[in-house]
Amino acid sequence: MELQITATSPEHPASLLDLPWHIPLEEWPEEHLVSLPRGISRHVVRFARAGGEVVAVKEVGEWAAVREYGLLRDLDRLTIPAVDALAVVTGRRGGNAEPLEPVLVTRHLVGSLPYRSMFETTMRPSTIKRLLDALAVLLVRLHLAGFAWGDCSLSNTLFRRDAGAYAAYLVDAETGQLQPRLTTGQREYDVEVARVNIAGELMDLEASGSLHPSVDPVLFGQAIADRYAELWHELTRQSVYPAAKRHYIDRRVRRLNDLGFDVAEMQIERSPDGDTVTFVPKVVDAGHHQRQLLRLTGLDAEENQARSLLNDLETWMATQDDYAPGDPLGARPEVLAHRWVRDVFRPTVRAVPLELRGATDTAQIYYELLEHRWLLSERASHDVGLDATVEDYTRTVLAGRPHG
Ligand SMILES: Nc1ncnc2c1ncn2[C@@H]1O[C@H](COP(=O)(O)OP(=O)(O)OP(=O)(O)O)[C@@H](O)[C@H]1O
Ligand SMILES: [Mg+2]
Repeated sequence: MELQITATSPEHPASLLDLPWHIPLEEWPEEHLVSLPRGISRHVVRFARAGGEVVAVKEVGEWAAVREYGLLRDLDRLTIPAVDALAVVTGRRGGNAEPLEPVLVTRHLVGSLPYRSMFETTMRPSTIKRLLDALAVLLVRLHLAGFAWGDCSLSNTLFRRDAGAYAAYLVDAETGQLQPRLTTGQREYDVEVARVNIAGELMDLEASGSLHPSVDPVLFGQAIADRYAELWHELTRQSVYPAAKRHYIDRRVRRLNDLGFDVAEMQIERSPDGDTVTFVPKVVDAGHHQRQLLRLTGLDAEENQARSLLNDLETWMATQDDYAPGDPLGARPEVLAHRWVRDVFRPTVRAVPLELRGATDTAQIYYELLEHRWLLSERASHDVGLDATVEDYTRTVLAGRPHG
């Protein structure tokens, strides 16, 4: 059998052909390798340079390689955070024509760290919590997509901290299974596996003295199960809203926020029966919203105000025709944010008489309007809209406030 590279895109076979496939992975010469932190695994895994990229190469049986390749491709299609599968290489032969194990090639996930490098020593318990929250988000997203992981653990996850956002990526799909829908039993099994694996992995860190002393492995293992349950419940509850019930969407966003999760993406689908809303949750650090709002809109606000403004922006974006997150043809978030500032934010603030606004800055005014709208809408059991909010807010709140 000839060396065969089955790859996703045409540029990869070319750069991959230069790698020494006739040598067992364990013995690859330094010149091809890149030294980066790697988690523990049963199979031999190495990082190598291929063209302009770093790839992870894993030696594994052919059947498993092809299967994992396919599953990772499926996850990519479902926009679930996982490593990108690049190729499967089969038909390898050594110097004496002896057959060598096939490999699965994935793209090295830039900026990611295995948990052993990440959780070690100085990581504060609150940060570990956020990372586990990110893993709960990943597990919920996988389950919503119909993917039963089968072996959710810290070593099968890669973590990324990027500008205050925490993300978990699936790295090992070997035990996974994709179905149209998972049963409750399948989900519970996965969560139980996660709980036991994570508690065990944290105990390992504890035993080697590299875990913060206040982190209890068993409690943190249980925490992932609890966080998963809360998030699952929140994301799968009834979600068809009659038009003009926008504050129900607000309510759900606020509930997710109260649980400690943010909305990364929202999709609103219109139908005669009402709007169906789906959320993609995410986990962020303190201070994230302020930086994000500043980056997208140039508005400088306090953290909790910034979160509220970003929620409003996100809800508004979901109603725009050219909003297509992840699609290169859709409008970029900066462009939509600019439009929101021009068409929504500024006109709304301007509708509040200048002499009543006084020295209060515009972001604060808009934040107060959002809070006021929420209050009025909850009271009225329907969305009162921004115009009515401005009118009521000006009359009942601002008029009584000393200004100047
Ligand atoms: N694309 C990638 N980017 C970054 N790191 C990677 C990548 N692929 C693999 N790794 C690292 O290699 C480790 C082992 O990979 P993987 O879990 O796929 O191997 P495995 O032998 O199947 O594991 P297991 O023992 O769970 O079966 C991971 O924990 C991760 O640290
Ligand atoms: Mg693994």
